[in-house]
Amino acid sequence: MAKMNKKLPLSESRKFILSDETPFSIREAYRKVGTGLAFSLAENKPKTVVITSCSPSEGKSTSCLNIAISMAEKGASVLLIDCDLRKPVQDSLLCLGNDVGLSSVIGGLVHDVSDVINRNVRPNLDVLTSGPVPPNPAELIAGARMDSLLKLVGRQYDYVFIDTPPANVVTDAFLMNARIAGIVFVVREGRTKHYDIRECLRKAGMANAHVLGFVKAYCSVRK
Ligand SMILES: Nc1ncnc2c1ncn2[C@@H]1O[C@H](COP(=O)(O)OP(=O)(O)OP(=O)(O)O)[C@@H](O)[C@H]1O
Ligand SMILES: [Mg+2]
Repeated sequence: MAKMNKKLPLSESRKFILSDETPFSIREAYRKVGTGLAFSLAENKPKTVVITSCSPSEGKSTSCLNIAISMAEKGASVLLIDCDLRKPVQDSLLCLGNDVGLSSVIGGLVHDVSDVINRNVRPNLDVLTSGPVPPNPAELIAGARMDSLLKLVGRQYDYVFIDTPPANVVTDAFLMNARIAGIVFVVREGRTKHYDIRECLRKAGMANAHVLGFVKAYCSVRK
């Protein structure tokens, strides 16, 4: 069992990304999350889901990417958006450039989001990286350009998964409620505290967010 207390080097972090080498039990666990989401969202359009957690380093980005990969493997067209405009990682995890991305579009520097989406990073999976870290993430995420972007991609893809910063630290995860189907919280085995979960749920309630459910992230290392 690995401790998730500090960030691992990128080469180690990439080992947690679903691949042909991933043990069946882990692939299956993500498939079950996907099936649960598919049922919960059956009546929703757009099927846009924010992934967050209470605190830093609980496995949000890894879980978000793996849920997106797993849904794409089932044949759905999927867009992953790195909306952690404070500590983005999806570009590094997936070895993608990040000179332009989400921040470029919602900051008004790029007009058409299609120009900056990375196509077929995996079969059926497109990725919009964060772009350069802006000075005013919350303002941009709550702004009209973000709203239009979510409206557009919600029409274009079967599922959109949005990676965000920790919800007890900043409010970013709760700023997109009008354009999303709901929020999934990642909780980390042996680390996330009940108090933090209650606090997160309280904030979600105040923001009128629709909580779809929880994903429990286990700590493990594949050799
Ligand atoms: N199943 C796992 N077992 C052990 N370590 C893991 C596992 N999944 C992810 N990690 C590692 O834990 C660290 C935190 O993971 P991740 O970046 O997904 O969390 P996060 O909640 O998105 O963090 P942040 O709050 O900084 O955005 C990373 O170094 C990652 O490689
Ligand atoms: Mg993260």
